[in-house]
Amino acid sequence: MKMLISTEFSAIEPFLSLFRPRSFPLLLVLLAFASTLLPLASAQLDKYAKLAGLSYFGTAVDNPRLYNEQYMSVLQGSGEFGSLTPINAQKWKKTEEVQGVFTFAEADAIANTAKAGVGGMKTLRCHTMVWYKGLPSWVETTYSRDDMEKILAAHIQNLAQYFKGRCYAWDVVNEAIDENGVFRQSPMYKAMGLDFITFSFKTAAKADPGAKLYYNDYALESPSLSPGPKISITLAMLRTVKAQGGTVHGVGFQSHLKVGLVPARAEIVNTMQQFLEVVDEVAITELDIRHSPLKVPSTREMWNAQARDYGEVVGACLDVNKGYGGRKCVGVTLWDFTDKYSWVPSEIPTEGEACMWDNNYVKKPAYWTVLNMFKAYAAGASRRRAGMDGVDDGNGTVSELDLEAAAHRGPEGLPGLGREQTTKTVVATTLATARRVRSTARPGA
Ligand code: G3I
Repeated sequence: MKMLISTEFSAIEPFLSLFRPRSFPLLLVLLAFASTLLPLASAQLDKYAKLAGLSYFGTAVDNPRLYNEQYMSVLQGSGEFGSLTPINAQKWKKTEEVQGVFTFAEADAIANTAKAGVGGMKTLRCHTMVWYKGLPSWVETTYSRDDMEKILAAHIQNLAQYFKGRCYAWDVVNEAIDENGVFRQSPMYKAMGLDFITFSFKTAAKADPGAKLYYNDYALESPSLSPGPKISITLAMLRTVKAQGGTVHGVGFQSHLKVGLVPARAEIVNTMQQFLEVVDEVAITELDIRHSPLKVPSTREMWNAQARDYGEVVGACLDVNKGYGGRKCVGVTLWDFTDKYSWVPSEIPTEGEACMWDNNYVKKPAYWTVLNMFKAYAAGASRRRAGMDGVDDGNGTVSELDLEAAAHRGPEGLPGLGREQTTKTVVATTLATARRVRSTARPGA
């Protein structure tokens, strides 16, 4: 009996020792990991994105969806999304279809949804003031420079003043440069040349000095995504605009990407760093990663490949912050979260399934990859708070090991293991690594 008690005690002794004061940092690490084992139904992207060092994880939303109960239950799920972007409601055609007549009812509906804060407070990313698409027909004609200045001033001032204090950020100018690095021949460019960009940013800054003002575009993530020098031309344009007195706080990397053609995480970090030499912050503003071409029916392999690609993009946003010791890539926005409402099939019928939730609101592997990445980063942050920063046991950090195990786990566990065995495996890996970390970090502990 005595023998039994002492054997039992020695088996649980390592766990009891966790509760001694000098072991509190280790306890914190383990508690952070324990949270990854909670029922996955309570998963919360925005909550963990914030713990991982972002300001928000958000989604774009279009007005008709606000009346779909199932859609809204995901949108307003506790801690899932911390930011909303109107997909179409703030575009020129929706807000000033008739010159001088402004309508904001649709944009208000989305702003009010964000403000209501169901499932957590949501910031509003406002989109977009000046774009070559989504224009009413009266803008799509030829104007003199003076007339275009007046048109732009009225449009931007009305939008900025009406939403003043409500927009965390405004996409002031959208997609001014094409894939070849050539300025798009929009009515604004034809009337004013490059000056339309500076003028737009100056006008927006005056009308709402509190909003972060963004230039927003696609194919900025890596030179591999466009045949022309789009990135260097965009950087030069931003430098010129700033030299001319325009206020540009941020650059939005739209990130409408294709599975298998997503630039490597380090490559995206590198490009973000180049932009951060010119502006204060960057963000992923319209993320979706489509299958191109889309094979039907889709397979687990396709979804896993997509999950890895989502991980590259979101991981880049997290990684870039490490280098600056603060929030520089401030957040990630999905260009809607479900395939049911993705823009892709209506514009590119042979491609699709780009979102993190499928047509039936089922979370795809991409969801779990991103969530587990946030959790791993959050665990790293709590390790840093516990004074164990920079500990590398030569076998990967705790968070990396957990990520390795968790990233592929999905709702039903690691392939072939089942959920219970997966949980045991993750716990065992975590404990083993935590022990190594402890002995490296605190010799003699
Ligand atoms: O609202 C009208 C409706 O009344 C009409 O019956 C219907 C007939 O086609 O059209 C509806 O408007 C459409 C609108 O989406 C709302 O569904 C427009 O035709 C259509 O052009 C518009 O497409 C949007 C597109 O931008 C152009 O504005 C997409 O939803 C939206 O996802 C897409 O978003 C853009 C970003 O703003 C900028 N970056 C690229 C991204 C994807 O293209």
